[in-house]
Amino acid sequence: MRPPLDQDDRSSSLSAKAVAEVLLSSDLLETLPDAIVAVDRAGTIVQVNSQTQELFGYDRDELIGQKVEMLVPENYRREHHHHRENFAQTPKARRMGAGLDLFGRRRNGSEFPVEISLSPVSTEHGIFVLSAIRDISDRKQIEEELRRAHEELYQKTVEQLGESRSRLASIIDSSEDAIISKSLDGTITSWNKGAERIYGYTPEEVIGKNISLLAPTDHPDEIPEILRKISRGESVEHDESVRVTKDGRHLDVSISVSPLRDAKGDIIGASAIERDITAQKRAEGQIHQSQKMEAIGRLAGGVAHDFNNILGIINACAEFLRDRLDPAAESSKYIENIKKSIERGSSLTRQLLTFSRSSVIQPCVLDLNERLKDVGKLLRPLMGDDVEILIVSKSPTAVVEADPGQLDQIVVNLAVNARDAMPRGGKFILETRAERFDEGFAEQHQAMSAGKYVVLAVSDTGNGMDEATASRIFEPFFTTKEMGKGTGLGLATVYGIVKQSAGHILVYSELGHGTTFKIYLPSADHKIGLETKPSEVETVSPKRQGTTILLVEDDEIMRSLTRQLLQEHGYTVVEADDGKSALEWVESHPGPIDLLLTDVVMRRMSGPELVERLNASQPNLKVVFMSGYTGELIAEREVLKRGITLLEKPFSRTALLNTIHTTLG
Ligand SMILES: Nc1ncnc2c1ncn2[C@@H]1O[C@H](COP(=O)(O)OP(=O)(O)OP(=O)(O)O)[C@@H](O)[C@H]1O
Ligand SMILES: [Mg+2]
Repeated sequence: MRPPLDQDDRSSSLSAKAVAEVLLSSDLLETLPDAIVAVDRAGTIVQVNSQTQELFGYDRDELIGQKVEMLVPENYRREHHHHRENFAQTPKARRMGAGLDLFGRRRNGSEFPVEISLSPVSTEHGIFVLSAIRDISDRKQIEEELRRAHEELYQKTVEQLGESRSRLASIIDSSEDAIISKSLDGTITSWNKGAERIYGYTPEEVIGKNISLLAPTDHPDEIPEILRKISRGESVEHDESVRVTKDGRHLDVSISVSPLRDAKGDIIGASAIERDITAQKRAEGQIHQSQKMEAIGRLAGGVAHDFNNILGIINACAEFLRDRLDPAAESSKYIENIKKSIERGSSLTRQLLTFSRSSVIQPCVLDLNERLKDVGKLLRPLMGDDVEILIVSKSPTAVVEADPGQLDQIVVNLAVNARDAMPRGGKFILETRAERFDEGFAEQHQAMSAGKYVVLAVSDTGNGMDEATASRIFEPFFTTKEMGKGTGLGLATVYGIVKQSAGHILVYSELGHGTTFKIYLPSADHKIGLETKPSEVETVSPKRQGTTILLVEDDEIMRSLTRQLLQEHGYTVVEADDGKSALEWVESHPGPIDLLLTDVVMRRMSGPELVERLNASQPNLKVVFMSGYTGELIAEREVLKRGITLLEKPFSRTALLNTIHTTLG
């Protein structure tokens, strides 16, 4: 066994031994949990405890007297040497190599992480250093595992966040609705594809602009009010309002807005989901209208029925009285007046019963073409000399199942109205044709189902009517005629008959431009063995890309539906709401227009006028006119030359696409 003290210091070896025995006594050191190594100034090991032997795998004898560096991995030894010298300069108890990773080296050469505390022990033989060495492999491993777990978690979170963010973005972009976010002052900060589809602006055109650009001029306060609500932390749910698109169309929209908050929870903006409900509103309007007519019908029918019974009683009593009175007596005049009034009353109730569809009818299968020839004769004296009557059959047969008397009544009532609308004469046109409606058509016209119909179009070149009048004409007792001239039951009766025959009636009219009524009665071809061949089913022309259509139509809903149909079929559509704006658009956009699809009668510039103006620069422009008026009426009014392509409203998807396809050639 080597002496524990500096080998050169022979004189002090005894007392050094004593110090070693006391301070560095293995008894004391054995009580400590850590491996303890005592070294002298020169770095020679003077004492170790059994924990050291265990930790490093050496016997005590193999350690005492050796340089402490033997316990340090080779590549750390030089550095260790420096540290040791530094420590000798300023010896004080401290952790060794704070902040550094320290390693020990076992006898078998394996290395392991350690933590070392150093304490100087001053003796009269100089300074010894006690190193408490602790194996921190376990702690390091736990630390490492924790770090790895953290890293994995972080990585996963980043991935998941990215994933959910892109999933969110794709959900937002695939939404049919407009999803728009904006700051509290209304500046648009995000704009999805739905918003682009609905409003027509690209994100580049609107991000950074104020959301008020979508507000109609007559509702300037609505958006600021919504933003004020949002800044108070309130939300807006399914508010119905109106918004304006890039091309100036007004849309009915349902809007839900909620506050956007930052990480601290402060409100920094608003997020809105906006749905285009224009088509839905229109359908609701149609349903509402037919419900209203239904209700009025029930009421009128009920009243008429009871009233008829009362008239019956009065009539019976009047007849009793008449039998008991001398016909020459003064009082029998009164009886005659009562009888006349009863007749007027019965005629009224009859009409009301017809409107309410409760009159008794005797339907039979008949050809409307034949029937019209007979009614035509009746009309002559009714219409007066200055009205020209035209009867046009566009299909060889027009077979329907209806009550002939009722059909006559329809024609007579419409003829009387037409005559009243043409005080200075004009033309009265009756047209028949067979038409088939596909599912697409039925979808747009709520009440109508797909199938084959006979269309009876009744037109006049008279005064026409405005929208407000046209929307009420089928109501019983609605009249614009002066007192005593009209009861307002003519069209109500027509409506009742058409409905009772499972048909539909539509009206197209504009003030100063005449009127067309279109009555659709289900075809009864099958009842006389004229079954439709399946080959008659129409096919839609193939899709086209890269063709630009200028669509000019003043009815907003009609325009939007037509645009949608065309776009779905691959056409590029430019819209205008009348001839004048269409012309302005063409003048400011020199790009090519392949086809003009235009309404005929419009407020500021009619379709034919627009074509004339455009022909100056584009003489070969292809044109399709569309109108609710019939081709006959339009030709009669000399609005359009004969032979021009006219698509009559209402048209089916197939009719629209095929007409455009054929015209494009
Ligand atoms: N061809 C038409 N041209 C212009 N306006 C029309 C035409 N047909 C009907 N109207 C308008 O519709 C209203 C209602 O017509 P309807 O036939 O139901 O009643 P009326 O003609 O006023 O009275 P009645 O037919 O009972 O004598 C008319 O008052 C008129 O304003
Ligand atoms: Mg009338």
